[in-house]
Amino acid sequence: MEEERGKSAHVLLLPYPSQGHINPLLYFADRLASNGLRVTFVTPIQSKKYFHKADPAVLASTHLEFFSDGHDDGLPPDLDLEAYQSNLRRLGSRAVGDLIDRLTVQGVRPVSLVYDSFYLWALDVAHDHGILGVSFLTQSCAVGSIYNRYLHGHPVRPKEPNGHVTIPGMPLLGLRDIPSFIAQPEGNRFILEWLSGQFENIDQADYVLVNSFDSLEAEVRKEIAEAWSLMMIGPALPAVYLGSKNPRATKMSGEQGMLTDCLQWLDGRPVGSVVYVSFGSMAVLSAEQMEEVSGALRRSKWAFLWVVRPPSANEKAGNSLPEGFMEATSEQGLVVPWCSQLDVLSHRAVGCFVTHCGWNSTLEGLTQGVPMVAIPQWSDQPTNSKLVSDVWKMGVRVEVDEKEVVRSGEVERCIREVMEGERGAELRRNAQRWKDLAWEAVAEGGSSDNNIKKFVANMSSSHL
Ligand code: UDX
Repeated sequence: MEEERGKSAHVLLLPYPSQGHINPLLYFADRLASNGLRVTFVTPIQSKKYFHKADPAVLASTHLEFFSDGHDDGLPPDLDLEAYQSNLRRLGSRAVGDLIDRLTVQGVRPVSLVYDSFYLWALDVAHDHGILGVSFLTQSCAVGSIYNRYLHGHPVRPKEPNGHVTIPGMPLLGLRDIPSFIAQPEGNRFILEWLSGQFENIDQADYVLVNSFDSLEAEVRKEIAEAWSLMMIGPALPAVYLGSKNPRATKMSGEQGMLTDCLQWLDGRPVGSVVYVSFGSMAVLSAEQMEEVSGALRRSKWAFLWVVRPPSANEKAGNSLPEGFMEATSEQGLVVPWCSQLDVLSHRAVGCFVTHCGWNSTLEGLTQGVPMVAIPQWSDQPTNSKLVSDVWKMGVRVEVDEKEVVRSGEVERCIREVMEGERGAELRRNAQRWKDLAWEAVAEGGSSDNNIKKFVANMSSSHL
């Protein structure tokens, strides 16, 4: 087996160090490994914690290499993002270049570097070392298209606060629908230049892989595919959550599994009767917003499972529950600090996903056929929410008040819309349709499966 692996094409993967960027690349890596490629991750030491939260079965198929980004114990609370990115560029370029040289000497020279598109410098490292550079977009085609248009000076922002902008392949977008860094550029200039910078050299990448699938974003894909060697390879998720009988796939276990508690709790609930609430791995909600969500859950009377993630040392304070909430709702709900989201979403008891609409959560809810209540926070989430509610019609999006807070009556109204009545049934039917299409894309002969096989074949022939 090892000998066989030695003959396989070797691919390096460079994920951006955050949970929402590492997960899709890990799942994609597992897919490459099960198609016979050898895969090695290269990532900053401080990102080890995200790998610890990953599924051990998925990790088993990959090799990890770490480098220092100058913050091995974690990012500081007062991180200067611009200085950090510049350091990361310097230290990361050197570390990845040295690794390619070392692997070459060891006789396992990689054929390509698959890098998160957030690493603007990685393509140069790949090409300077004579290997293929593959940009991996962890966000949607729609969001990629908006940043790309911004970079090239096309209008992406409504002229009036209540106006709309026309972007090919998308519905009319208001200020609340476009990525937050474009909607509110004040204070976000660096992030905006950085994220739109992903597209500066994308036409020189040997491949552009997107964690999405053809039928999900057919229109917008048509608009951007021509200029780039674009391949939709998603949803990048473990095969077991996509209906596959792949014997390699097991459901999450290990550290993922404080998890068993919530799964057992779900086991005791009727089909479609639980509201699952999670705001991903980064969002920190204010005390006021937590109070409003708590009130909505209590009053809705539906059973709920809520991930209330304690902020890490480098985040602002927040995500705290109102006093007495846990005691008052101990019969109705369960609050956990983290869960195996895919196991929860694929559980038959879950009937609604109250989500911030991070791209991974959006795809995960969609592939499990769970209708959503979208409460976007920032970044790409407003655009994802727009797609969920207005294009895929598998969820409803909350309205915020003039203080940008979602009031409890509004959250409760949306939960009821998803969980109850004819409208709820319609959303469930639509969600089921998208689940079927997602599974079809990654099944044998589906559009994403074909693209992955083509990619693997091209990597293997570059290796010969
Ligand atoms: C960030 C951005 O916010 C998001 O908009 C962008 O598209 C990717 O990077 P994050 O906020 O963490 O990501 O959201 P999301 O993209 O949904 O990723 C969170 C990941 O953590 C998902 O894969 C989810 O399954 C996982 N998760 C979250 C858990 O496994 N357990 C939890 O309890 C919560």
